[in-house]
Amino acid sequence: MHLALLLTLGFGFAFACQLPSEWRPLSESCRAELAEIIVYAKVLAIHEEPYASSLYNYLPYQKHERAEDALLYAAEVELLCDQAWGSMLEVPAGSRLNLTGLGYFSCQSHTVMENNSYIFFLRMDENYNILPHGVNFQDAIFPDTLENRRLFSSLFQFSNCSGGQTIHNFNSDWESQEDSRLLCSSVQKVLFEEEERVGQLEERVAELERRNDRLKERVGKLRHSLRKARKVSRRAEREYQELQERLKTAERHIYCICSIPDRVHNMSSPKKATTEPRVIKEELIVSGNWVKLEKTTYVDPSGSTRTWETAKRTTRVADSAADGVSIIALLKRTLHKDCVVMVKQFRPPMGCNTLEFPAGLIDDNESVETAALRELKEETGYKGEVVGITPVTCLDPGLSNCTTQMVIVHINGDDNENINPSQQLGDGEFVEVIHLPLDQFQQKIDELLQKEKIVVDSKVYIYAMGMSQAFFKPRELPLMKQ
Ligand SMILES: *[C@@H]1O[C@H](CO)[C@@H](O)[C@H](O)[C@H]1NC(C)=O
Ligand SMILES: *[C@@H]1O[C@H](CO)[C@@H](O)[C@H](O)[C@H]1NC(C)=O
Ligand SMILES: *[C@@H]1O[C@H](CO)[C@@H](O)[C@H](O)[C@H]1NC(C)=O
Ligand SMILES: *[C@@H]1O[C@H](CO)[C@@H](O)[C@H](O)[C@H]1NC(C)=O
Ligand SMILES: *[C@@H]1O[C@H](CO)[C@@H](O)[C@H](O)[C@H]1NC(C)=O
Ligand SMILES: *[C@@H]1O[C@H](CO)[C@@H](O)[C@H](O)[C@H]1NC(C)=O
Repeated sequence: MHLALLLTLGFGFAFACQLPSEWRPLSESCRAELAEIIVYAKVLAIHEEPYASSLYNYLPYQKHERAEDALLYAAEVELLCDQAWGSMLEVPAGSRLNLTGLGYFSCQSHTVMENNSYIFFLRMDENYNILPHGVNFQDAIFPDTLENRRLFSSLFQFSNCSGGQTIHNFNSDWESQEDSRLLCSSVQKVLFEEEERVGQLEERVAELERRNDRLKERVGKLRHSLRKARKVSRRAEREYQELQERLKTAERHIYCICSIPDRVHNMSSPKKATTEPRVIKEELIVSGNWVKLEKTTYVDPSGSTRTWETAKRTTRVADSAADGVSIIALLKRTLHKDCVVMVKQFRPPMGCNTLEFPAGLIDDNESVETAALRELKEETGYKGEVVGITPVTCLDPGLSNCTTQMVIVHINGDDNENINPSQQLGDGEFVEVIHLPLDQFQQKIDELLQKEKIVVDSKVYIYAMGMSQAFFKPRELPLMKQ
């Protein structure tokens, strides 16, 4: 600020004084109004400007004055009155301060003398230095003459003046100055307005710059997120492909899941398996027409020889893999639910009725399919079509070596032959045909079991449970309710 001030004061006036067109001539009172600080003070001492000797006094155009004493100096002053009303500086009479930026310039004098009093127009720069304030480039320092005293005492309310000073805080000129004060106010107003407009413009420029920066930032962010999105989508695609691959692999392996891993197998047999278990001999204990009982001698996995009692059918035909067939028959009719065709019959070993799939033994020279269709026809009267056959399955392996193959048969219920089916039962065969809707299979079986004394074949019930598990949520399984 020193530099700026001095350049303004020094430079400007060193070469040419301010042109009249560039400044508005202002009365003292106007300038007083526009000054920030006005003090009436006595100069106590003059000090060389600490920065002046190193910088300003070496300015080229001042070279010829260099040999002389420092041109720029500071004055230590003591305030003779309390501050003028409205002054920016609020220090009482008797306060001392240093005024900087004093010296001699071509167009104006900022020169003061020790022990003299002056009226100073001052301002404070941003470093809190107190400088002369030559409003509109006119004098800032006024000697303590009677005329000046009168002039300024009428403008400012100096008070509590010390040292027998007589600056009055009021005189009759006061009111006559009001008009010029108004003029000053309007000049000041224009200046302030201009300043404000500049400020607003600067603010708008700054705002625009900020918005531009934000825009740039947003574009940058957008680009960044675009790149990221592309990356993410590429990764998602890759993951999707990987998942597809794994799904395919899983599908290929899904049929193997039921095979028991070695580890589980080993863990489930606590005894150390050293021998492949096998049957050594089978001795007939007793035989009937249809069934025989044998004593089976075998070697267990630990190598010990043991015996078992085994029931067998005597009817097994030589070239057949299973003793009999069970038929899962689905009756399909237009506008009807699919029904499972079941048989209810009295089973002497059980001493009660049972609910079973239609079933029968495989005859000599008979294929599984033929046996199934024949048995279905005999027991239920329906003519069906084979759609699937299971492998050979055992029925009660702890008791007997009886086996069966299950045959899935579809019955076209719209077929004339199947509209009024008639059973072809042999002597002593009493079979009741029962239709149970496939979608409520287990529920209907349960209802039947509630109603009468009947035992359901485990194959049937397992099939019903499987059906429920396939069609309903696991949480709804009757199995889980127990
Ligand atoms: C007037 O100024 C003197 C110092 O010059 C100070 O001690 C005194 O308190 C001041 N009085 C008032 C009323 O401000
Ligand atoms: C004014 O400046 C001089 C010299 O730098 C210093 O000795 C003095 O204490 C200052 N006075 C005040 C009131 O700051
Ligand atoms: C200012 O006054 C003091 C004491 O009254 C005196 O010692 C000093 O010489 C005076 N200075 C000047 C420049 O007259
Ligand atoms: C399970 O038994 C098989 C054959 O008996 C053997 O090869 C395998 O190492 C065993 N696994 C474990 C975990 O003991
Ligand atoms: C079964 O077929 C064989 C030869 O194909 C025949 O010798 C035998 O008599 C047939 N048995 C019956 C019960 O038809
Ligand atoms: C069951 O025993 C009978 C009579 O020994 C035999 O013919 C039949 O093949 C055996 N069944 C199985 C599945 O081993």
